[in-house]
Amino acid sequence: MRVALAADHAGVALKRDVKHLLTDLHAEVEDFGTDSDASVDYPDYAERVARAVAAGKADVGILICGTGIGMAMAANKVAGIRAAPVTDVETARLSREHNDANVLAIGARTTPIDRAMAIVRVFLDTEFAGGRHQRRLDKIAALEQART
Ligand code: RB5
Repeated sequence: MRVALAADHAGVALKRDVKHLLTDLHAEVEDFGTDSDASVDYPDYAERVARAVAAGKADVGILICGTGIGMAMAANKVAGIRAAPVTDVETARLSREHNDANVLAIGARTTPIDRAMAIVRVFLDTEFAGGRHQRRLDKIAALEQART
């Protein structure tokens, strides 16, 4: 699996841990930064990951900021991206099963490290269930097409 990964300054330490986990899981990781705690703007990093996923250069993206919220908001502006801000293992599973989320957004300031690792594992391990859920995703895609 090819994973595009990025964080803002709030997520640098957690990104390091997530990258180790992804390497242990034999994922192919493209790391878009940031790599220091100097303040940066999360939309710049969300855009890099979202564009890599939308272009098919990565299978999924993982974005980390203070809460995961800003990263998800920004990533979802890129056509084809379904980014989920996830705070627990159950929503990680459902974001894949029901929403076919292709970007996971995690909050480094709101998520304990062990839970963040579990979220990443479940996100990567869970398949989209399809069926009725596909019809709903088609409606999301139609909204995207109709956007003015
Ligand atoms: C940065 O201080 C913080 O606003 C950012 O990491 C993120 O939490 C935004 O959603």
